[in-house]
Amino acid sequence: MTAIDPRVPTVVLDSGARAVDTSGEAAARPTPWAPLRILAAEIEATIERISTGPAPDNGRRSALLVHPESTTGRSFAPGVEVAVEVLLPGESTTPLRRNSSIVQICLAGTGTVHVAGASIDMARNDVATVPSMKPHRFRNDGDGPWIRLAYSNAPLLAHLGTLYAEEVPADWVPGTVVDGPIDMDEPAEVADRGSAPDHEVSPTGARLRGYEFLVDIEPVPDRLRHWPYRTVSGLMSQSTGDGERTIMALYNPATERRQGATGSFFVTLSRIPHGHRPRPEGAGHRHSSVAINYHVEGTGYSVVDGRRIDFAPGDLLLSAPSWREHAHYPSETGLTVFTVQDHPQHIATESLIWQEDMNGPILALGLERGQTGYIAPRNWDDDLPRI
Ligand SMILES: [Fe+2]
Repeated sequence: MTAIDPRVPTVVLDSGARAVDTSGEAAARPTPWAPLRILAAEIEATIERISTGPAPDNGRRSALLVHPESTTGRSFAPGVEVAVEVLLPGESTTPLRRNSSIVQICLAGTGTVHVAGASIDMARNDVATVPSMKPHRFRNDGDGPWIRLAYSNAPLLAHLGTLYAEEVPADWVPGTVVDGPIDMDEPAEVADRGSAPDHEVSPTGARLRGYEFLVDIEPVPDRLRHWPYRTVSGLMSQSTGDGERTIMALYNPATERRQGATGSFFVTLSRIPHGHRPRPEGAGHRHSSVAINYHVEGTGYSVVDGRRIDFAPGDLLLSAPSWREHAHYPSETGLTVFTVQDHPQHIATESLIWQEDMNGPILALGLERGQTGYIAPRNWDDDLPRI
């Protein structure tokens, strides 16, 4: 064995692996990226750039919005890819499926999303998903450019070395546009594990099970989900003090207790009506999930670890890098904002920590009693938005 650096307790083993001595190592702390604001004008210039010239063979006019600290050159946050996607009138993409999942916000124009056996028409501010490993394609049958902001968990999969995508045969026939409720009775095939053994082996609840349990998992069917803005926005607060909710989650039942739009990300819509009375600055909160805000309406600013970041309609903010204290201060214009967080992914990996009060407890959401105080209607004149 050979020490590679006398100052670092690391040795190279005969196998080529290294043994890194972590004895007495200090406790790990989060290492968040800096907050970031991408101006609406920068997004518009990006749209203009990828709209120029002929479409690529696969039809996908797309540009990733990449954080300066991205180590992969593709991510907006460590585990989140954000793509601006454009289809000009008459254009469509070739069918594809991939093991990342997508949630997208329509910024402008109209078009049709085809996913497996279902299709929906998307209009401005609508939100729709593309689940993992479902064949999908997009088509613009409208009169103007169709612009979408698409968020995916691809960076995490790439980090794991397991990001996968494949072209679907060109003769794939997508479903027709949904006209009425989707049949939710898709059979959830019950795993047939035959005579697989299943033993309790200690009083701690530990069990010993047959391998069938690992490879024939109970499926939770997922499908294209669509949140039409005209419906969603009508269910939110419309005027100050009307008692309606000012923040709501766009929930996909397939994510179950992870409360997501996809298995990786939640999406919330915040709506603070015009006439909101701005409040003095106060303390923020923090969480291990990252938050990305797309501002639809309203002006104001966020404070992230003491740094003020203004926002205006059309801006995209990495407004809450993991574990950075943040709070948001809309002006009297009020606020309409979509927030995407990798919260469900953290629930799945039991890593979602949340500190509402900077002098209060750090809670492990999903593993213990959760945060209270979000029981709406929250009075935004008495409290500050925490998203
Ligand atoms: Fe937050």
